Parts: sequence; C-alpha cells; structure tokens
Amino acid sequence: MIELTLAEVADAVGAQLPEGAAGSVTGTVTVDSRTVSTGDLFVALPGERVDGADFVAAAAAAGAVAALTTRPDGALPSLVVDDPIEALGRLAAAVHRRLQAAGVVTVGITGSSGKTSTKDLLGQVLAAAGPTVSPPGSYNNDIGLPLTVLSADEDTRFLVLEMGARGTGHIARLCRVAPPRIGVVLNVGSAHLGEFGSPEGIAQAKGELVEALPEDGTAVLTAEDPRVRGMAPRTRARVLLVGRSDDAEVRAEDVALDDAARPRFTLVTAGERHPVTLQVVGEHQVANALSAAGAALAAGMAPAEVAAALSAAGPRSRWRMEVGRRPDGVTVVNDAYNANPESMRAALAALAGLPATRRIAVLGGMLELGPDAEAEHERLGRDAVAAGTDLIVAVGADAVGIATGARAAGLTGEGSVHVPDRAAARALLSEVLRPGDVVLVKASRAFGLERLAEDLLADASGTGAGA
Ligand SMILES: Nc1ncnc2c1ncn2[C@@H]1O[C@H](COP(=O)(O)OP(=O)(O)O)[C@@H](O)[C@H]1O
Ligand SMILES: [Mg+2]
Repeated sequence: MIELTLAEVADAVGAQLPEGAAGSVTGTVTVDSRTVSTGDLFVALPGERVDGADFVAAAAAAGAVAALTTRPDGALPSLVVDDPIEALGRLAAAVHRRLQAAGVVTVGITGSSGKTSTKDLLGQVLAAAGPTVSPPGSYNNDIGLPLTVLSADEDTRFLVLEMGARGTGHIARLCRVAPPRIGVVLNVGSAHLGEFGSPEGIAQAKGELVEALPEDGTAVLTAEDPRVRGMAPRTRARVLLVGRSDDAEVRAEDVALDDAARPRFTLVTAGERHPVTLQVVGEHQVANALSAAGAALAAGMAPAEVAAALSAAGPRSRWRMEVGRRPDGVTVVNDAYNANPESMRAALAALAGLPATRRIAVLGGMLELGPDAEAEHERLGRDAVAAGTDLIVAVGADAVGIATGARAAGLTGEGSVHVPDRAAARALLSEVLRPGDVVLVKASRAFGLERLAEDLLADASGTGAGA
C-alpha cells in the first residue's frame, strides 16, 4: 500500500493521534492479527464470536505499528473510533483519492451472478496494459473492498473492485469509498431476492453503481438484460452496451464450445473482429468476457490486445466451475462457491456441454429466495432434467424440492434422489460413480458443498477404476 504516517491515518479516520505517537504504516492494513507483519496497521474489527480489540497485543507482538480500534490498548498506539468498519472505509477513501489523483483507473463490477468471474477476467486483461490490483476471491463488501483499495500502491494503474449488495444503499456506500470511473453491471437475477423483495428492488440497488459514475466515465451494461439496459438513463457517464444483441457496441459472434466446454467466439467492436478462445468453463463466461472486454476498452486498451489477453486468462478464484479429474476417469466440477437460480442454470448448461457417459448434478439448497423458494427449487429440478442431467442428487432439507421437480419432469426411481446431508451424498456417490461420469457439485455458500466436491475427488485417489 501507499506509505502513510500515523498522523495521516488519524486524520483520515477522524481519530485522535495518541500523545507521542509517530511513525508510518510501512506494511499493509490487516484485520487478522494472525497475518500481521512488520509495519502493518491492525484494524480491530468487532466480530460475531471474537472482538478484534482483544488481539491488539498479539498484533503488536507480530510487528504492527498501530491499531485502529474501539478502545485504547497499551500494547500499541491506538487510534480509537466508534466503528472500525466505517473507519476502514474512510481510510480507503483517503487512499483512493490519492490513487485517483495519480491517474489510477478504478473499475467497479456488480450484478447478481458472475462478479468474481468477470473481475478475474478483467484483472488479467488489464494486467496486460499495466500494474493491476484485483485480488482473487470475493472481496466485495464493507471490509473486503476497502482492503482491496488499500492494497494498491504507487505503481498501480488499474484497480478492479467487486461490489456486492444485500440491500439498498450498499453499492452507493462502496462507491463513496472508491468512486469508479468505469462501472460494469452484469445482470439482475434473483440472488438475495428475499432481502430485496423484487427484481426491481435488485435493479434499483445495482444501478447505484452507474449513478456514481462521472461524466467522463463509462457504464458497461449488458444489452440482453432489460433491467440492466434500463439503467442507462440513471447515469451521466457514456453507456457502452455489450452482449450478443445487434446494437451492442462490443459483441460476441460465432460462439461455440470446445470439448471441455470452454467458449470461443469472435470479439466484434469498432469495426474490428478478433478471435477469443477462453480458458474458463461454461457458456455464461461469454457474457462475463464481453463485460470485461467493454471495461478494458473503456480503459483504453485496443481490441486486439483485449482479445489476446482474454484468451490467455485462466480461472483464479476457487470453487467456480473448478474441473478436477480422478484417476478412475470420474470428473468432478466444483462450482460450490454459491448458488442462485441463474447460476444453477448456467452451471447445468456447462455440465451439459462437457463430454460424459453420465451427467450427475449434486445440488444443495439456494438460500435467500424469499417466499418463492420452494417453487424455485422445484423449477430447478425440472430444468436440470431438461438440460440433460442423468442423475440428480439433492442434498439437505432445503433441496427437497429439487428432487421433487426432477421426478415431476420424469426422472424417477434412482435417477432422482434426496439425501439428508453431505456424508450421505458421499456414501451414495461412492457406490454409483463410474468412469466417464461428470459430477457437478453446487449449492448456496452456507452448505459448504465444496468440501463434498473435494471429498469426491479424493475418494478415488489411488484406487483406480473398479475399486
Ligand atoms: N454471467 C453469468 N450468468 C449466470 N451465471 C453465472 C454468470 N457468471 C457466473 N455464473 C455462475 O455463478 C457462479 C458464481 O460466479 P461468481 O463469478 O463467483 O459470481 P458472484 O461473484 O457474482 O457471486 C459461477 O460458478 C457460475 O455457476
Ligand atoms: Mg463474488
């Protein structure tokens, strides 16, 4: 990060500089006392189970120079604030102002599905044009986003920020911390529908991103999504439509999948045509790649450069269509990072695109869908059958509807099973899996099905086919 004196930190967060405190933050800002190293600023966050303020001494022992905390602690110069999360945001905002003054281009990405995937593609594309900050994972909230901003330094030219929303005003708040010049809205689906009440509510919240853009900025909007396209009047910035529609300025033509379900297409923009062969899995990545392309073009890259960098970009965050192969010829696709109806359908479509003797979907529940949850699960079960899934294993009480829906769509007998938990799923699958099977594992975050996927991969290690 940019080196800051403690006086500058105190000023940014509105805290008193303790008597006699001097020096600078020469390391980074960290919220976990276990990862503190020399020269760091330790931010003591209040947690559900532990209070960071209890770990100031540990941070001091690990080399921290100061703490941003809720009560003074003799172990370190303490910058005392009421709300350390808010203070973290203020500190990031102060640093972001400097970054912007130094010419850093900030891109914000939001949408119901595909934020992390798009951020990972865009981070790799922009890295071809200059030093880029875009950490793997989903640092998209009031803690993760400021920490990402604070990890930028004097060399940084591009900052790619994922922005998540669980309610109205959340994205606006993140945009106050780090006002983007380029804003990407991917789609409006039903993630967290229960909290927003309606898709319109979600669109209202996601659109806060384009409202925050400056006149000389760019709003990159998905042409096919009417709620996203409908955000155009809400921004002062130039609107760049991306997608497969004829009126999109950045388009994909000739979309096809290779035999590992990796998309290829022709990137069409500004009268130029360039081939793109993605290294990531699933047709939904075409939309993500186009949004990333739109942002990279808005940041000044040339179309040929963008196409080449997209073609070189690999998967970077875990448990998103992560394809693993067992020695016995079973393939496990770990897409268990999270799930909502749209991302489930995208993953099932990707499963359908993979060569397999049998396609097996091991699906857990989707949370936060509100009153339609039951119907959504049943619909998903029916759609999974329509997508060509041969065997459906619904895991956990929330997923019962998936099995019901699959049976209603004609997948009866042993084709559609419900099991109570991960252990039962693992036991069942160890009986039924055969060489040539491809198994998709996916559920909402809380169910931890990535561990089931990892167990399934490990189960055959060294045993070989037929064991
Ligand atoms: N553009 C998209 N449309 C629909 N589903 C998508 C899209 N991109 C990704 N997905 C699905 O959503 C899952 C989560 O993707 P991710 O990029 O982590 O999204 P987010 O960060 O928005 O939660 C992926 O594994 C995939 O199944
Ligand atoms: Mg994410």
